[in-house]
Amino acid sequence: MFFLVHISARNFNPKIMPSLTELFNNNKEWARDLIAKDPQFFEDLAVQQRPEYLWIGCSDSRVPAEELVGLAPGNIFVHRNVANVIVHTDFNSLSVMQFAVDVLQVKHIIVCGHYGCGGVRATLQRDRVGLVDNWLRHVDDVMQKHHSLLSRFEDDTIRLNHLCELNVIEQVSNVCKTTVVRDAWERGQPLSIHGWIYGMRDGLLRDLHASASSSEEARLSYSKAISSLPE
Ligand code: CO
Repeated sequence: MFFLVHISARNFNPKIMPSLTELFNNNKEWARDLIAKDPQFFEDLAVQQRPEYLWIGCSDSRVPAEELVGLAPGNIFVHRNVANVIVHTDFNSLSVMQFAVDVLQVKHIIVCGHYGCGGVRATLQRDRVGLVDNWLRHVDDVMQKHHSLLSRFEDDTIRLNHLCELNVIEQVSNVCKTTVVRDAWERGQPLSIHGWIYGMRDGLLRDLHASASSSEEARLSYSKAISSLPE
C-alpha cells in the first residue's frame, strides 16, 4: 500500500533555513496530517515495515529519496552516501543490502545518482576536500576506466554529467556482483537492480537502462548502458 507524501510549502524556500524549533513544529504538523488521513498510520507502521524498494543514493540534501518518488514512510528502505558508491568491502552498504534483500525481501534495488553531483565534480576536477577524497577514489576508478569515452567531451558540464551517469552504471554493476544479490538470484528470489539519475534542475528521474534481474542480464545491460551513452 503506497501513500503519497504530503509536501507542504512551508519548507520550500531553500534560502530561508528554518530554526530547530521550527523543525519540531513541522514534525508535529507532519504527524498530525498523516494521522488525519489515517488514524492508524503510525501504529500500523510501528509493528513492521514492508518496503519493496531499496534506494541507494547520494547524501546530497537536494535529492530526497522518499519525496521525489512520492512515497511515505514504510515504502522505501534507504542507504545514502557521498556519490552513491557501492564498494565491495564496505560493510555498511553491504549490511543494508543484505538486510533489505534477505529479511525485508525488497523486490527492487535502485541506484540513483544525480547530475551535478559534488562528489563526482570534485573527482573530475581533482579537488582536495579532505578525508572524503579517499572515498571518492572509487569514483576516480570509474573515471580512469572510462577515460577515453570522457575525453571526447570538451564541455566540463557535459563531461561531469556523463561521469555521473557512468558512476551509476558502474555502481549498479557492483551491486549485481555482491554475494547478497548473486545468492538471491541463485535461489530464485525475484530481485531487480536499476540505475537511475536525477536532474536537480527539473526534478525528474531518468532511467539509464542498466536494469538486471539475473547475472546474465546484468552483464548484457551493463554493456548496453555504456554503449548507449553518446559518442
Ligand atoms: Co551527489
